[in-house]
Amino acid sequence: MAINKKYIDSFVNITTKAALASSYLVGKKDKIAADKAAVDSMRYNLNNLDINGRIVIGEGELDAAPMLYIGEKLGTNIGPEFDIAVDPLEGTNFAANNLPGALSVIAITEKNNLFKAPETYMEKISSKANVKNVVDLDYSVKKNIYNLSEYLNKKPENITACILDRPRHKKIIKELNDLKVNTKLITDGDVSGAILVTDEKYGVDIFLGIGGGPEGVLAATALDAYGCHFQGRFLFKTEDDKKRANDMGIKDLSKKYEINEIVSGDSIFCATGITSGDLVSGIIINKDEFISETLVTHKQSGLKKVFKLKQNI
Ligand code: FBP
Repeated sequence: MAINKKYIDSFVNITTKAALASSYLVGKKDKIAADKAAVDSMRYNLNNLDINGRIVIGEGELDAAPMLYIGEKLGTNIGPEFDIAVDPLEGTNFAANNLPGALSVIAITEKNNLFKAPETYMEKISSKANVKNVVDLDYSVKKNIYNLSEYLNKKPENITACILDRPRHKKIIKELNDLKVNTKLITDGDVSGAILVTDEKYGVDIFLGIGGGPEGVLAATALDAYGCHFQGRFLFKTEDDKKRANDMGIKDLSKKYEINEIVSGDSIFCATGITSGDLVSGIIINKDEFISETLVTHKQSGLKKVFKLKQNI
């Protein structure tokens, strides 16, 4: 089954409106307010769509998040059943401090085709090498770089690896430096980071490291549409984390997930820029008009495109 193409515009509109709402709070040093604006907009607009939607990746679980929580039903209840993953404001620091890269993101599949994940960390890896035994979460950094170097026919010193700049990645970053790999260290925003392997123009060959699990599932949806490689392994630290994962049906807590275990069937992915970044430009407001850019993928039709829209506010 496929998701009807008519929903592409509907979901582009969802992230566009959420990005616009959040854009008014860019640079106001209040990440909670910027996030809330995007969440409120997304929820309101999703509820007006003729769909039977269910949040599988959201702003947290019911007890911690009043809106867009995992399990929340959205839409008018008329129409197809969709699994929905949202990150209404990806890069809260970027928006609060008017830095590049804040996005509003959504991913949709038909029911039961998107991984239902708790809010926890995930070890991730993505690359263009969508074949077995080239890049793998279980390989050392050195083996991944050497294999990728052979696969891409590029010397390690001509490979670029994107990774979140965090103390937890000190060892990986040192190994990359020792191999003379170029590193693109990002301060936040690893949905975008993971997706940068999809096109030569971004100049990234491999993304790796630990970031948010929900962000991993969102990125996997776009990477799947691009035919790229992605693997993820959730990291459950506390007993509470482990219990929540069990309650969500995750039995093997140390499982390495392949992309097709995270997302299957048809999908739509939309990421609208709030502030300009690597993937898309941010919202520009001009009197009563605004311009937005949204990276859109629709797996079944092969659509992978940036939609630039000019609309009245
Ligand atoms: P927020 O939008 O929730 O602030 O997340 C930004 C982000 O950088 C994600 O892209 C990434 O997955 C996660 O935070 C990394 O978490 P941490 O900052 O704890 O390392």
